[in-house]
Amino acid sequence: MRKQVIAGNWKMNKTHKEAESFINEVKGKVPSKESVESVVCAPFPFLQKLVEETKDSDVEIGAQNMYFEENGAFTGEVSPVMLKELGVTYVVLGHSERRDVFGETDETVNKKVHAAFDHDLTPIVCVGESLEQRESDETMNHIESQITKAVEGLTDDQVKQLIIAYEPIWAIGTGRTASSEQANEVCTHIRKVVGKLSGDEAAEAVRIQYGGSVKPANVDELLSQSDIDGALVGGASLEADSFLKLVEAGK
Ligand code: G3H
Repeated sequence: MRKQVIAGNWKMNKTHKEAESFINEVKGKVPSKESVESVVCAPFPFLQKLVEETKDSDVEIGAQNMYFEENGAFTGEVSPVMLKELGVTYVVLGHSERRDVFGETDETVNKKVHAAFDHDLTPIVCVGESLEQRESDETMNHIESQITKAVEGLTDDQVKQLIIAYEPIWAIGTGRTASSEQANEVCTHIRKVVGKLSGDEAAEAVRIQYGGSVKPANVDELLSQSDIDGALVGGASLEADSFLKLVEAGK
């Protein structure tokens, strides 16, 4: 039985004060981590404070990106060592905004996934097709290629611990959610691909989130699908009330 993992991705939003007030509002109210994993992926400047504030709570803190090297002349980058030292436990990798706006490639995503495991951070690896790819029937091949490259060189045990977020690009921030059947169809395909690459046990264990205009009104239906084990949520994770409803749905 896979535990659901609900992760809020704040993207480049909130002030320090807003971040603090959000966390104070939710930290005593999220369900126990035995029943659902509740994760807040915040901008780098807020991470230290958020980790401190959530120490004795059921909220976990994640970063939205990192570099794959441990240190060195990489101006503007943040290393896995730094995140680990702060007490961050999850890291979103290969989000479509990183790929599209900042030129991330399957190769850098793969290096980052390895670096995350080397430093005991749980990677949430994002994959997803564009509208053009969906309309030209390339979704399944594209997803297979992204997954294959992302997990290259990982052990089967590492793959078991991975979280994969399926985020169709056309559904991100558009209010246009994939139907639960469309989302599940791709998540089932992802599980098959993982099985082919890393064996049945890894396929059974790997957790697959759906992301793209998830909100309290549609989360139950999405989470009830056979191959969806959680959600990666942007817009609807920014308000405490809404985040709490989403994590409740994951119980
Ligand atoms: O990481 C989250 C996704 O990009 C989804 O964002 O919920 O605002 O559509 P959204």
